[in-house]
Amino acid sequence: MKQKSKKGKKAKKGAVESDVRTPIVCVMGHVDHGKTTLLDTIRGTAIADGEAGAITQHIGATEIPLSVIKDVCGPVFAGKFQIPGLLFIDTPGHHSFTSLRSRGGSLADLAIVIVDVTEGFLPQTVESINILKQYQTPFVIAANKVDRISGWRSVEGAPFSKALAAQNERVQGELENRIYGLIGELYSSGFNSDRYDRVTDFATNVALIPISAVGGEGIPDLLMVLIGLAQRFLKDNLKVKASGPGVGTVLEVQEERGLGTTLDVILYDGEFQTGDTIVVGSLHDPIVTRIRALLKPRPLSEIRTEERFIPVKHVVAASGVKVSAPKIENALAGSTIRVVDPSEDIEAVAEEIKSELESARIDTENVGVIMKADTIGSLEALVSEFESKDMPIHVADVGSITRKDVIRAEAIQDPLYSVVIGFNVDILPDALAAVQKNEVPVFLGNVIYNLIEDYEEWVTDLKMKMEQDRLHAVIRPGMVRIIPDCVFRQSKPAVVGVQVVGGQINNNVSLMREDGAVIGIVKGIQVQGDNIGSASVRQEVSISIDGPTVGRQIHEGDLLYTNIPEKHVKIIEAELKPRFTVDELETLDNFLAIKRKRDPFWGL
Ligand code: GTP
Ligand code: MG
Repeated sequence: MKQKSKKGKKAKKGAVESDVRTPIVCVMGHVDHGKTTLLDTIRGTAIADGEAGAITQHIGATEIPLSVIKDVCGPVFAGKFQIPGLLFIDTPGHHSFTSLRSRGGSLADLAIVIVDVTEGFLPQTVESINILKQYQTPFVIAANKVDRISGWRSVEGAPFSKALAAQNERVQGELENRIYGLIGELYSSGFNSDRYDRVTDFATNVALIPISAVGGEGIPDLLMVLIGLAQRFLKDNLKVKASGPGVGTVLEVQEERGLGTTLDVILYDGEFQTGDTIVVGSLHDPIVTRIRALLKPRPLSEIRTEERFIPVKHVVAASGVKVSAPKIENALAGSTIRVVDPSEDIEAVAEEIKSELESARIDTENVGVIMKADTIGSLEALVSEFESKDMPIHVADVGSITRKDVIRAEAIQDPLYSVVIGFNVDILPDALAAVQKNEVPVFLGNVIYNLIEDYEEWVTDLKMKMEQDRLHAVIRPGMVRIIPDCVFRQSKPAVVGVQVVGGQINNNVSLMREDGAVIGIVKGIQVQGDNIGSASVRQEVSISIDGPTVGRQIHEGDLLYTNIPEKHVKIIEAELKPRFTVDELETLDNFLAIKRKRDPFWGL
């Protein structure tokens, strides 16, 4: 049935009104790897070819029609295509990708991940690929800046094979090495890949296209691979509803001079008309309002005029448009914007939009971290990364870090999770005060990968410190002999000179006689009038002992042992013994022998 209707349309004269919408292509990659330059060069080539008029500037996007792609591709253009062109998302980065969501999936049909061949994979490259994997969005790798390989001979705008043929053997070999490097990195991320001209199955292999965004080499090949992928794998997903109530996603909420708050929207279904009633998601209840104005950027050919936007009455999917409307200050980037038809129930539509945020939110009783992100999409990406690492989440929500978040984090008993993690969000002033007061660690960042790495490093350090503290708190063996003629005070407390004959003696440990009787607690250790916290083997010090009276419970010449609690003996046996010195081990043995006279299983 579906096929039949397609055939019918194709047979239409001219077939201008294609039954497939323009695929949306998101450009992603690490900072400075060349995302903007790539799009500028594609636009520039078209302008140079006298095709400026054919390129439609959208809000946050550029539409390159098939005719322009054909021109840019020149001799490498081959095949028949029904897709009308490609809609490139111009606000590049993972950030716009995650905002481009539609009902839990991604709105982007395809993605280009740009990698600087001289730098290889960097954090945002890995992050982009992880996000694409999560959303199962097909992508290609543009291995950019090939002109940076030393000795590269520029062949501007040339297809890859021609550019490659112009290079000497050493440059060719160097490029090959770098491509292998990227293939290895992709393999680590779970993808098979190859240089695009060696890929036989595009469904199972990621294509790498070497390009120079500056010189234009390889760009024809990149565009060909993209339209080939779109044509072969996406056609069925690109059915457009160019009429009916418009549905889009909010890319950004922006202040515009003279217009107030506006929404940059990618409309992916149906149409928008000025005056339409719309519902758009916010942090609280969805906003119901009316479209006051729809604005499009001026065409490339008119770029020099003062006014950046032209008002239009009506836009059709897929397109990028700026929406001006009252009461949209609290609209949430990444949420759905939808026209409500007079026949529809506004409440029901609002509920549906509200449920998007609700389903991304997490609020549990679990011990875990508090997590805040700027959009629904980025929250989903962050949560998914945490979950894939089995890191527990207590609360996950969209919005700035509030005082309540800090207080909830503080209430988490496990110090490893008593933290707030914020992705692309700020800390409200009263929350900042609470952070300082309660010493709750806050991790902020705008690269998920780095954010998780920072947190993981902190967890490792804290665990190590906790472990050290735990072992440090273990009472260690010690054995002292009261030196004859060195009694400075009989009692309350008793002060006597002692020699440490094994291990160490510490403040606040309790002391035991050789017969097993516990006689008191060390309340001070002095050497030549200075207070010291502990003394080790062979040192002679004076100690004050709370409890005994010299001549009664203790006597000159007595041997006294540190009375180690049974729990500590078990930790010593299990973990600390290998680090003990010979005299510590000997002291421990003596101590245990005394204890086990009464109870043979003591400490076991
Ligand atoms: P962000 O938007 O900051 O993430 O960066 P981006 O990925 O958009 O990078 P952009 O296009 O701004 O390029 C960064 C720098 O790399 C600029 O100085 C470009 O001129 C340079 N550059 C981009 N592509 C190429 C290339 O193919 N060859 C050379 N030699 N330089 C390039
Ligand atoms: Mg850029």
